[in-house]
Amino acid sequence: MAATTIPSVNLKGCEKAMPVLSMGTASYPPAGLEATKAAVLEAIKVGYRHFDTAFAYGSEKPVGEAIAEALRLGLIQSRDELFVTTKLWNLQLDYVDLYLIHWPIRLTEMVSKTPVAREIVRPLDVKGAWAAMEECKKLGLTKAIGVSNFATKTIQEILSSATIPPAVNQVELNPLWRQEKLKEFCKEKGIHITAYSPLGANNTKWGDNRIVDNQVLADIAKSRGKTTAQVALRWVFEEGVSIVTKSFNRERMKANLDILDWSLTEEDIQKINQLPQRKGTTMASVLGAHDIVLELDALL
Ligand SMILES: NC(=O)c1ccc[n+]([C@@H]2O[C@H](COP(=O)([O-])OP(=O)(O)OC[C@H]3O[C@@H](n4cnc5c(N)ncnc54)[C@H](OP(=O)(O)O)[C@@H]3O)[C@@H](O)[C@H]2O)c1
Repeated sequence: MAATTIPSVNLKGCEKAMPVLSMGTASYPPAGLEATKAAVLEAIKVGYRHFDTAFAYGSEKPVGEAIAEALRLGLIQSRDELFVTTKLWNLQLDYVDLYLIHWPIRLTEMVSKTPVAREIVRPLDVKGAWAAMEECKKLGLTKAIGVSNFATKTIQEILSSATIPPAVNQVELNPLWRQEKLKEFCKEKGIHITAYSPLGANNTKWGDNRIVDNQVLADIAKSRGKTTAQVALRWVFEEGVSIVTKSFNRERMKANLDILDWSLTEEDIQKINQLPQRKGTTMASVLGAHDIVLELDALL
């Protein structure tokens, strides 16, 4: 599939359009540098043009190396053909496309393993952090700035003093966590939502098989000749948000892009919209069940 077949969305204040299907790079167990680099290269070959990385995933180095390799191999002609989202300025690139505040929380020291001690978890100086993000954009280090795992209340706080509003809020969103209120709020404010863990982070330590083994989704998949994962991804796509899903397997990478030229019926959507809701990914599952973390989780 050619990269051009993936639709893009225009973000507020960003001159570069963002492909709505992107490849995640948080792997579990951690895939390691070479395997991650190989997977990113494979994804470029398969047609992905948007990559999601973060300091916390240990994937920014292999993403940077894979891009350099893709340029050397002629898979892409210029860095500009790719859209790179990250959550800390740590890539070997001249700029990133989208820079997000990963969590609405402050850790007082670098962490190398989780969960973390209660003492190092502090509230984020939301306005101060956002002013620093605005500076990154003004300096040309990133084309757009945004947030991740931010609830409406915290976004309101940013908006009360921002000169550049967040372009994106990246949050968990899938058939079992539909985020209806947050979606409505972000739409009203012109903030684009990107859905992470659209497959429920199947087979990872922060997720489970609740989506890929869901019977309602499986029945719809059977009737449409698709896989359960494709039904989940198509539902997310039809919500009008962009998607970051991770696969380091070539066949699943391709299958996860094959959601654009068919649609769900009204009846399928109604069935999916009746599924009981359960948030899968929590900050507490990563950082530890500290009061401040639990309070933030409860807002999302
Ligand atoms: N901002 C945040 O706080 C945050 C939090 C979580 C994730 N993210 C980002 O979002 C990305 C995606 O989310 P995620 O990794 O949590 O979960 P996900 O994309 O919902 O699920 C990924 C898991 O599903 C498997 N998988 C992929 N395609 C499949 C298919 N067609 N059928 C069955 N299984 C399939 C993958 O294994 P294989 O590789 O073996 O295919 C992997 O184990 C992350 O990699 C990361 O970049 C951001």
